[in-house]
Amino acid sequence: MSSVRKILITSALPYANGPIHLGHLVEYIQTDIWSRFQKQRGHHCIYVCADDAHGTPIMLRAQSEGITPEQLIARISEEHQQDFAGFNIAFDQYHSTHSEENRFYASYIYNQLKANNHISRKTIKQAFDPEKQMFLPDRFIKGTCPKCGALDQYGDNCEVCGATYSPTELKDPKSVVSGATPIEKDSEHLFFELGHFEPMLKEWTQGGHLQTQIANKLSEWFESGLQKWDISRDAPYFGFEIPGEDNKFFYVWLDAPIGYLASFKKYCDQHSINFDDYWAKDSDAELYHFIGKDIVYFHALFFPAMLAGAGFRTPSAIFAHGFLTVDGAKMSKSRGTFIMASTYLKHLNPEYLRYYFATKLNSRIDDLDLNLDDFVQRVNSDLIGKVVNIASRCAGFLVKRFDGRLKETYSDIAFDLYGDFIDKGDEIAALYEKREYGQAMREIMALADKANEYIANTAPWVLAKQEGKDEELHESVSLGINMFRALMIYLAPVLPETANRAWKLLNLDPKKQMWKNASIPLMGQHENRVEKINEFEALLTRVEMIQVEKMLEDSKQTLQAAAPAAEKPATTESVFDPIAPEITIDDFAKIDLRIAKIVNAEAVPEANKLLKLTLDIGLGERQVFAGIKSAYEPEDLIGKLTVMVANLAPRKMRFGLSEGMVLAAGPGGKDLFILNPDEGAQPGMRVK
Ligand code: MSP
Ligand code: ZN
Repeated sequence: MSSVRKILITSALPYANGPIHLGHLVEYIQTDIWSRFQKQRGHHCIYVCADDAHGTPIMLRAQSEGITPEQLIARISEEHQQDFAGFNIAFDQYHSTHSEENRFYASYIYNQLKANNHISRKTIKQAFDPEKQMFLPDRFIKGTCPKCGALDQYGDNCEVCGATYSPTELKDPKSVVSGATPIEKDSEHLFFELGHFEPMLKEWTQGGHLQTQIANKLSEWFESGLQKWDISRDAPYFGFEIPGEDNKFFYVWLDAPIGYLASFKKYCDQHSINFDDYWAKDSDAELYHFIGKDIVYFHALFFPAMLAGAGFRTPSAIFAHGFLTVDGAKMSKSRGTFIMASTYLKHLNPEYLRYYFATKLNSRIDDLDLNLDDFVQRVNSDLIGKVVNIASRCAGFLVKRFDGRLKETYSDIAFDLYGDFIDKGDEIAALYEKREYGQAMREIMALADKANEYIANTAPWVLAKQEGKDEELHESVSLGINMFRALMIYLAPVLPETANRAWKLLNLDPKKQMWKNASIPLMGQHENRVEKINEFEALLTRVEMIQVEKMLEDSKQTLQAAAPAAEKPATTESVFDPIAPEITIDDFAKIDLRIAKIVNAEAVPEANKLLKLTLDIGLGERQVFAGIKSAYEPEDLIGKLTVMVANLAPRKMRFGLSEGMVLAAGPGGKDLFILNPDEGAQPGMRVK
């Protein structure tokens, strides 16, 4: 891979109606590391992003603040860019979907699709707020779930029983905007005929452009057929008017991915780059989109189809990642774990989080957990204890005893050891390239261990006290600094700020710390020759748990009660839920499964999902709370058999003690299956 690659990469465009939080940062840090890595490898890599500025939530939020949408998105754009800068995310271009470039490409692509007969029209019925005189997106209607009766549920899905439905099915629906009861109203909408692209998409999605987990999911979506996509919205709407239509606007998700082209176009105009070199059908540039797993449908189906239909190239690959949890749970405002970027930055160094995420990131779409104890421990033991420690142990001796000058000649042992650092370079680069950052970090830390071992064995602090050991001392600390510098080159994509401090310490030109230069030690006559290193200054300080606690406290206090609703379909998270960590057959054998007869079942009035079951397992009765109310009326269960985990430790619940668990399988909602009575099965029998 010696030739220079042309690479264009993007992160998903954050909505301009809310602040950047640590969940978002998983993505921007992942992309930024990749961008910095490619640049350090000498490739031509351009990283663009923008604010996603259109849609109903942004329009309504501006109204509620008494400002124009333009004022709102200008302010949020400032905030976003400040947060990103705080985390050292180095976009080459940050733009907005509410821009002339985007209006141009959205209209152009739409006109192309229309000219090629991929746009159709249909009158649909939609919920309409008679007071506010506007059509209501599903998320702006709340009411009683038609399936389980839970109050205050969104118009598209129930968070209690998981049912999905259309807003017209909600009982007692209310507009979130005005409180009025929505009426149904006809409106003609424009549709993108996704089905026309089925052959192309089938080929593309199975053509190595997607991660396996996603390609597999897409095959399922194909089986259920590709629906045409509603791309228009009626006024009032904050977005671009559709050319040739009266008062119709592009749905925010139509012009959002086109924002990638728009942002790049702006970059081209300022840097004399030819747009078509990257987006024309015959482009030889690489194009990658980093996204979260919740927006795969848009990026792996709609977007490539739109591009193909309008005569552009399609992406080289989509790189999806999982969702962030904090201490094993969804980010929570009440626990203070819904942490905004700006809150984090008030208390902690951004490099800590960049490193911690790097240790957790891989090429898959598994969720990743920010475990706060582990975070403190990892940062301190790896970055401070292993990496920075090398420099702090060696730099002092070098300055005090050798006027800051590195040794020019080395023993074979020293050369061999440095050779190990050079040899690992390709392997580490290959891991970055594959987005296996976690593994890359482990390889780098293994090298750091080697360096520390060498220093411990040569013990410069002992040599320093002995007569006639100057030569040995000089070699030990000079090699230490050389190894430290190689580590910093390998870590620079993750720790740009720390790397810069290291280059200052070593008097090195930051621009010349390219990946390949790690193979040339800092001696002799070459561009990376070090004349004299500087006095050591702390490159990175330890993180203390108290700082983390203060950040959580601050988070709790600064968060407004409610986050603005995002204009997004019901989450697709569950379909990508990863398989839990592997267990052995011995683990499995510990589970004692017994046939149980349901002798009584009653609803738990305070809990929407729960039934209280009395189970006969032959050896006596057990009380179990089971979340299967969505599927069964209690009376229907009495007399039926089920399988229960008989040796689960009892759990105290709000409603009483639960002494086991029943196994009911199925997708949820109405479809959760238990066993029917059968002559062969007797309560208490072990299940095989
Ligand atoms: N505006 C759309 C994207 C349009 S792209 C043409 C959007 N915005 S978002 O602000 O909700 O999310 C931006 C990115 O951050 C998405 O890729 C999303 O998956 C990611 N994340 C948002 N919350 C996240 C976590 N909690 N964890 C990991 N990534 C998360 O979607
Ligand atoms: Zn429900």
